[in-house]
Amino acid sequence: MKNRSKLNSFYYGFPVFLVTTQDNEGNDNISAASSSISLGEKIIIGISKGSKTWHNFIAGSDAVINIPDHTLWENVEQIGRLTGGDTLTENQIKWGTEISHDKFTRAGLHTEASVDVAPPRVAECPIQAECRLVSTSDKGKFMLVELDIVNLWVENTLLGENDIVDSSKWKPLIFNFREYTTVGETLGFNVKYGN
Ligand SMILES: Cc1cc2nc3c(=O)[nH]c(=O)nc-3n(C[C@H](O)[C@H](O)[C@H](O)COP(=O)(O)O)c2cc1C
Repeated sequence: MKNRSKLNSFYYGFPVFLVTTQDNEGNDNISAASSSISLGEKIIIGISKGSKTWHNFIAGSDAVINIPDHTLWENVEQIGRLTGGDTLTENQIKWGTEISHDKFTRAGLHTEASVDVAPPRVAECPIQAECRLVSTSDKGKFMLVELDIVNLWVENTLLGENDIVDSSKWKPLIFNFREYTTVGETLGFNVKYGN
């Protein structure tokens, strides 16, 4: 039997990423996020209205989508409690978010320069996608940001044959109904596995 449920959020199991952007003064920002779709050359992400990341995208910032592995969950949680903005949104006040203009240091993370976009990559993340901003689309409390991948970086120890990520070597950080977890035993392989 199932109950009709009115959940406040529906984080049913998303890979976590860290999005870096830059404001018009050249200040870098890093933010924890989990709402994304990736298909072909594109990544679409969902960003809450009023956050520093939201302001940076509205101002036209490109981005890097940095994918942490499961070992970085505490750094991610720390980043998620900070905002690079100067004011707090209602939601950020509700969750005790703190203003910080030094989020990398506070979370024990480091930058490395990107090649084709201004925002830096997060050195500790084994997978990093430098992205060009294509469009933003207002969805009320959040917006959808359409990004085109222009450079993809993968730690070489994760690569198998044909420059494909060897999934047996990759333990992503998954946000499972707001619990941090990772993947378990292999259940099987898709027909396109390895391509
Ligand atoms: C694991 C995790 C996932 C999150 N996912 C998102 C998300 O998909 N979109 C979003 O706007 N905020 C998300 N947040 C919240 C932001 O990280 C948070 O509001 C942060 O303070 C925004 O920083 P900024 O104001 O510097 O951009 C997430 C936080 C955590 C810890």
